[in-house]
Amino acid sequence: MLSYLGLPVAAATHSPDVDSLIVIVHWLMLVLFVGWGAFFIYALARFRKRSNPVASYEGAKGKVSKGLEIGIVVIEAVLLLFYAIPAWARRVTNFPSSSEAVVVRVVGEQFAWNVQYPGADGKFGRTDPTLVSSENPLGLDRNDPNAKDDVTTINQLTLPVDRPILVHLSSKDVIHSFGVYELRVKQDVIPGMDIPVWFIPNRVGDYEIACSQLCGLGHYRMRGFINIKSAADYQAFLAQESRSLAK
Ligand code: CUA
Repeated sequence: MLSYLGLPVAAATHSPDVDSLIVIVHWLMLVLFVGWGAFFIYALARFRKRSNPVASYEGAKGKVSKGLEIGIVVIEAVLLLFYAIPAWARRVTNFPSSSEAVVVRVVGEQFAWNVQYPGADGKFGRTDPTLVSSENPLGLDRNDPNAKDDVTTINQLTLPVDRPILVHLSSKDVIHSFGVYELRVKQDVIPGMDIPVWFIPNRVGDYEIACSQLCGLGHYRMRGFINIKSAADYQAFLAQESRSLAK
């Protein structure tokens, strides 16, 4: 569906909301482009200098032009009030609770995405900026009891399909943006803030996390991957990571 716009595959439950808005806006823009283009060509001929040696300072007076202007304002108001605002309201009011959702932390830095899973206890371990090193990019304090089972990865965010996902986004340095086109998710990541974003992936596959905010010379290579797996494969991934942690 909608392949004529070249949209990426849709892999989240809220994708149709976003896509239908994109489609309607494109149709409106097409109508405006053709309409204004035709009017421009008409005006070139109709008001050519040879038959209009003296300019008119009064402008258009007809009912048609006023009607068209009002029509465009009405269509844009309908788009805003009945499509854009409700779609956004559904995004921001339906946040899943942290008990029903799979909760992960994603910390952006120049130029990578660090992922922290809370582990079996469901609690994120303490992090401390003074512990940050190349082996421990999150600054995770492994002496904290909550941190013992925390799984961390770099540029690989593995998640289960058909579950609400709650991602807590933060940054170690500058403003980045967490953009996953297949999930129709894009959220700025701002140092000093914990910004939650949620979605329900409904299609197994590997998708790119593209940093969508110019964040430095290495911005182009700041890419991670979201691996949406079946419930069983996701459990296997967590078990595997926990085993390698115990070693
Ligand atoms: Cu991070 Cu661009």
